[in-house]
Amino acid sequence: APVPAPDLTSCSRAEINPGGPDVPYTCCPPRPDSLDKVPYYKFPSMTKLRVRPPAHAVDEEYIAKYNLAISRMRELDKDPKDPRGFKQQANIHCAYCNGAYIIDGKKLQVHESWLFFPFHRWYLYFYERILGSLIDDPTFALPYWNWDHPKGMRLPPMFDVPGSSIYDARRNPHVRNGTIIDLGSFGDETNTTQLQTMTNNLTHMYRQMITNSPCPLPFFGARYVKGTDPNPGAGTIENIPHTPVHIWTGTVRGSKLENGDTSFGENMGNFYSAGLDPVFYCHHGNVDRMWNEWKQIGGKRRDLTDKDWLNSEFFFYDENRNPWRVRVRDCLDSKKMGYDYAPMPTPWRNFKP
Ligand code: C2O
Repeated sequence: APVPAPDLTSCSRAEINPGGPDVPYTCCPPRPDSLDKVPYYKFPSMTKLRVRPPAHAVDEEYIAKYNLAISRMRELDKDPKDPRGFKQQANIHCAYCNGAYIIDGKKLQVHESWLFFPFHRWYLYFYERILGSLIDDPTFALPYWNWDHPKGMRLPPMFDVPGSSIYDARRNPHVRNGTIIDLGSFGDETNTTQLQTMTNNLTHMYRQMITNSPCPLPFFGARYVKGTDPNPGAGTIENIPHTPVHIWTGTVRGSKLENGDTSFGENMGNFYSAGLDPVFYCHHGNVDRMWNEWKQIGGKRRDLTDKDWLNSEFFFYDENRNPWRVRVRDCLDSKKMGYDYAPMPTPWRNFKP
């Protein structure tokens, strides 16, 4: 059977690592007034497509708007019951990924499974609409971290401005000042030239998008249904480059955080805290874009047709604080959801190893 939307009454403590210490606060969302009657989401009528731009190429006006939207979202944290607040939005990731929800006696975990792409798509969908509504711009679109293109293989510069609302002090200092990211690294540093790293990155992309994912399951991740153990297996892109980008951006595990605590990778390098870094949603914009790109490559690269995937559900709040149930089957076409990606070339298509 498909994984149902989590029952919020089952939401309790979350773990920083499986079997590890608890997250020191609750990640559970505010409870809607009536829990059983959370309706299925209906797409609002659309006026204009939201076009998500590559983060390295946006102009000053966009950066100002985006910073304003995030600062307004941070202000909403004053009311801890407002599900649109910055911390509440980050807690969505904690609740769905650090074991706060129990379904059929098993901890829910949307990663390392075929729920990875659809969960994050819906998550960004509502996050983007909340930001747009906070600045009265129904066309506001999130930026995407274009790490599959040489121009985007570094922290997008707009995120590297200390003091701005999209800055996060809990990043590994090595992400600053335009350092090139190694998309294949799970934490080891290598001595390669920047040019070589970029070339290797393109080869990683070719491998994950083409060689290793000729059909749906290897791309989306392993089958995951109600009542089964979490983490059945990650898809190609979730594995590389998605996870290396998290590890590279977050603090080094075992190092000391500014408050003296030992780091568990905060913020980007741990599920519970990743959403506290605004670049998280920018990173996932590109992950989501890879879903669209992958389907365009052709062959047998299509969405899964298994009913247990299509009928899996999640729970989210929208920009009007209304709670909804959403289904995987309703998020397969981003244009139908009201957004698309500004095109960028995909040079990795020519980097067959
Ligand atoms: Cu839900 Cu990039 O992790």
